[in-house]
Parts: sequence; structure tokens; C-alpha cells
Amino acid sequence: RKQLLSMKHLSNEDIHQLFSMVKEIEKGNGPSPLQSRFAANLFLEPSTRTKSSFHIAEKRLGMEVLHLDGMDSSITKGESLYDTLKTLEAIGVELAVVRQSEVGLLNSCAEELNLSLINAGDGCGEHPTQSLLDLYTIHEHFTSFQGLNVAIAGDLKHSRVARSNAHALKQLGVNVSFVTKPEWQDHSLTTNYITMDEAVDRCDVLMLLRIQHERHDQTMSSTSYLEQFGLTKEREARMKDHAIILHPAPVNRGVEIDSELVESSKSRIFRQMTNGVTVRMAVIQALMKGEL
Ligand code: CP
Repeated sequence: RKQLLSMKHLSNEDIHQLFSMVKEIEKGNGPSPLQSRFAANLFLEPSTRTKSSFHIAEKRLGMEVLHLDGMDSSITKGESLYDTLKTLEAIGVELAVVRQSEVGLLNSCAEELNLSLINAGDGCGEHPTQSLLDLYTIHEHFTSFQGLNVAIAGDLKHSRVARSNAHALKQLGVNVSFVTKPEWQDHSLTTNYITMDEAVDRCDVLMLLRIQHERHDQTMSSTSYLEQFGLTKEREARMKDHAIILHPAPVNRGVEIDSELVESSKSRIFRQMTNGVTVRMAVIQALMKGEL
């Protein structure tokens, strides 16, 4: 396989193989460099973490990196995503990392492309490398997935992170529960929701999601969201001693989580970002070598 578009395409063996590669990279026994091979990062929706960490991962692997966004590419003149990717392939790009807003569009392009392709977030669809770095961060702390209780809390309806993680966590033997407002429920994930108070009492991992204001028609009160559905200091104090807090970020401080908890001892939010670079190095290496 040369493409990573969905977590549904990875087996548990694939995931653990990638983790082994990440551990080797962390030990300094990194993957063989991909010197002088060209990657293109095509980001048509905003990004700080994913775009920057792919750039660093590609440079650490020795790749030459092109950056395109909606404003500096011929997509502004109406060129399709498929023609853009086919053009990059024709001029020698071997890896394309794509963030864009239309669910399923990248999958429809992928069939006719020969370059390695990574979905870096497709609207409300999937975000597989975010899921892999989340899974790696959980595995780094607990060393196993079997029997863990993970609660995913927040804007489920609009969350590509929730969709990728829910699938992968269940496949890995994790008990996954969900917390959200009634209007953000997604019945493709579950029909059985729990409250935030139940979640903090029971979970080993609390995975908070960003409220995606840009995908909503209405704004809401930040204070009432934190009290009803967010992680307050009172709730954090009730979590199990070994429990950890994840959030893909950017964080709406004081909304999904009390601002003081973002860098607390249970939080792995910045660790997730650090792991994002090595996880993406492993994914690129595996795809470019056809090892998945
Ligand atoms: N977590 C994540 O995808 O962040 P960015 O939108 O900043 O890339």
C-alpha cells in the first residue's frame, strides 16, 4: 500500500509495525533517508501542527519539500484536486500530503495516482496520522491497549479525529465511550452516550475534541460548555491516578478544558505533538518503501 487515507485501511499488525519503527527512530536508529526525493504538502484548510510536523518529518528523512496552499496554487483558477496531484506526480513528486474539506474526494483521486498519498484531514471525514500519534501516545503510557477505557468527548459530529480514533481503538480491543451534546451526536459512532462525570470516573484516557466553530452556524457560551461537557479542575481531580488527557489541538482553553489543565501532569497534549513528528516519519518511510 502506498496510500494512507483512512484508519480502516490499517490492521493491528500495521499499527504495531509503525510503532516499532517510531521506537527505532527515537533511539536514533532512524529509517534510511529519502535524500533528494520530493514531497508536496498541499494544505487547502488551515493547519499548524500537521503541516509543520510533516515538514519536519520530511526534512529529517532528507526529502525536498514543496508547500502549496489554496492561494498559491492553480486551484484558485479552478484546477481540480485530481489534476493538481496528477501534475505533481508528472513533475517528479513521490509523496503528497493533502488537507482539504471534502470527505471522500481524496479517495476518488487516489485510484488513478501512483504517488504515495497521505490524508492529512478531509473535512469531517478522517485524520489517520493524528489517530496514529494519539494511539502511540496512549501505548507509550500504558504499553498495551487491551481492556483500556477511553472516553472521547466533544464535537463528535464534526470530528475527523473522533472517527479515525473510534475505529482504530475498537479494533485494538479498547472500550470506547462517547460524551457530547445531543445535537453533536453521531449515530455512526454509537447510540449510547455517557455524561462527562461518568467519563472522568471510569476512563483511563480522556480524549477531548476541539469545538469546530468554523463548521458551526451558531456560537455558544464557553462557560456553560466547560461546566456541562468540559474538563474542569473538579472533574480532573476525580480521574484515576494513572489516567491521561489527550486533545488533538488547537485547544479552546477554558472551553473544552480549564486552561490550567492543558499543561498539568495528566496532560499529554504537547507530547502528542512531539510524537507527531516521529510517527509521521515512520508513516512516510513505510509508504515510500511499500511496507504497509
Ligand atoms: N491536530 C491538528 O490537526 O492540528 P492542526 O489543524 O493545527 O494541523
